[in-house]
Amino acid sequence: MRYLVIGAAGHAQEVAWSLREMRGGLAELLFFDDRVPAGPLCSGLGRVLGTLDTVAAHATSEARLVLGIGRPRVKAAVVRRLAALGLEWETVVHPGATIGPNVHLGEGSYVAAGAIVTVNVRVGPFATINMHCQAAHDTELADFVTLHPGARLAGGVAVGRGVEVGSAAVVLPGRTIGPWAVLGAGAVAVHSLAGEETYVGIPARPLVRLAQGAA
Ligand SMILES: CC(C)(COP(=O)(O)OP(=O)(O)OC[C@H]1O[C@@H](n2cnc3c(N)ncnc32)[C@H](O)[C@@H]1OP(=O)(O)O)[C@@H](O)C(=O)NCCC(=O)NCCS
Repeated sequence: MRYLVIGAAGHAQEVAWSLREMRGGLAELLFFDDRVPAGPLCSGLGRVLGTLDTVAAHATSEARLVLGIGRPRVKAAVVRRLAALGLEWETVVHPGATIGPNVHLGEGSYVAAGAIVTVNVRVGPFATINMHCQAAHDTELADFVTLHPGARLAGGVAVGRGVEVGSAAVVLPGRTIGPWAVLGAGAVAVHSLAGEETYVGIPARPLVRLAQGAA
């Protein structure tokens, strides 16, 4: 199977490695990136063939797209940009991830090594659950959500579209995080949080920037 990996930086290579593990080593991996120059990757996973504008030239009908991008807004923009190709996006689950019963993983989502998704969890399209994350029972992640490494969602949490949960951040049981919010690394969402805002600290509060504070 030919896989067109969108992105070629470190995260993309982690996703591609996970895919190769999942397919028992049988995966042709072609990388595309607007910033990483064409040529072989030092990880040995494959070659960068060109920018995203060159993907179409390699898009055979059986090829699948693989999302190698972690930032939610960039993910959304790239998925829009490549929609006209009409190709399916692969869902990638590293064999070292633990997925429980009645878990639904949306198209193009990624679950990394060491992550645990327990029971009755809905993971939307293009969501990223990075290394050693936890998504506990009855949790819902909307599309384009990214959980950075070590983030932990307790049971019954609802995470809105495009939310970014920083490394080692925690969301307490039953809380909701509004769309396109950012929870900083190490923050703890003690209360439900509104969307389109960045929160840091314990308990998580809106990030006050110096320019804002001086106004
Ligand atoms: C919260 C976050 C989004 C802010 O990023 P930013 O908008 O670029 O903000 P800055 O780095 O300019 O920092 C702004 C202020 O917030 C503080 N800050 C940044 N991140 C913080 C965090 N996680 N917790 C507490 N304070 C934080 C900075 O110290 C700075 O304070 P100052 O103005 O008093 O110096 C980012 O720092 C973060 O935590 N992102 C999570 C990403 C992640 O986990 N990535 C893992 C990839 S593997």
